[in-house]
Amino acid sequence: MSVQIAPSILAADFGRLGEAVEIADRGGADLIHFDVMDGKFVPNLTFGPPLVKAVRNRSRLPFDVHLMIERPWDLIHDFVAAGANNLTIHAEACPDIHRTVQQILGLGATASVALNPHTPVEMVRHVLPDLFHLLIMTVSPGFGGQAYIEAMTEKIEEAASMVAAVNPQCRVQVDGGIDLATAPIAARAGATIFVAGSAIFGSPNVADAIRDLRKAAEGALV
Ligand code: DX5
Ligand code: ZN
Repeated sequence: MSVQIAPSILAADFGRLGEAVEIADRGGADLIHFDVMDGKFVPNLTFGPPLVKAVRNRSRLPFDVHLMIERPWDLIHDFVAAGANNLTIHAEACPDIHRTVQQILGLGATASVALNPHTPVEMVRHVLPDLFHLLIMTVSPGFGGQAYIEAMTEKIEEAASMVAAVNPQCRVQVDGGIDLATAPIAARAGATIFVAGSAIFGSPNVADAIRDLRKAAEGALV
């Protein structure tokens, strides 16, 4: 499965998010990652559907919206209407993952599930057939710029083998502390989508950073 790079605009200049989306698109991104935080599920607050809508016309790439919020079902309609292509909900925020996934699919978007570092991959085995991505958080969600948690490498391996057995179309995505050093580790463990904020928008040239990250991940697979 090919490597995909998903720049997280969380690390971009919030005064120029439209431009950041364009730059990531022109720089060779495969999807644009939006980190939605509600100040409750995670101790930080970002943006809602109006921001996604405001930058929708800046790129034709899929918009990958990571919902770090309580009661995600309250907002899925508005995010899809705003132009989100994929919605990722957190297992920890959903008493009924299956129902919320069906609601997302019913709106015409793809559905993915994210797992915090302590949440076992087994939590999603029985909803995997409907998932587009399984997101293994490689930091505790809430902030950019944190260090990759090394214990997550084994978890990525577990996720990848479960996905291969249950739904080989589903991709394993990693998010948090992904850079030139950790992308190859995650790639070898089975990740194929690499979300990166600081490593891309914190670099002097976004296109170079995307290319280098892709090369690092691909290089680990040969
Ligand atoms: C963390 C977010 C990430 C974050 C990654 O809660 O889900 O997407 O932007 O940032 P870096 O790449 O800086 O760790
Ligand atoms: Zn994210």
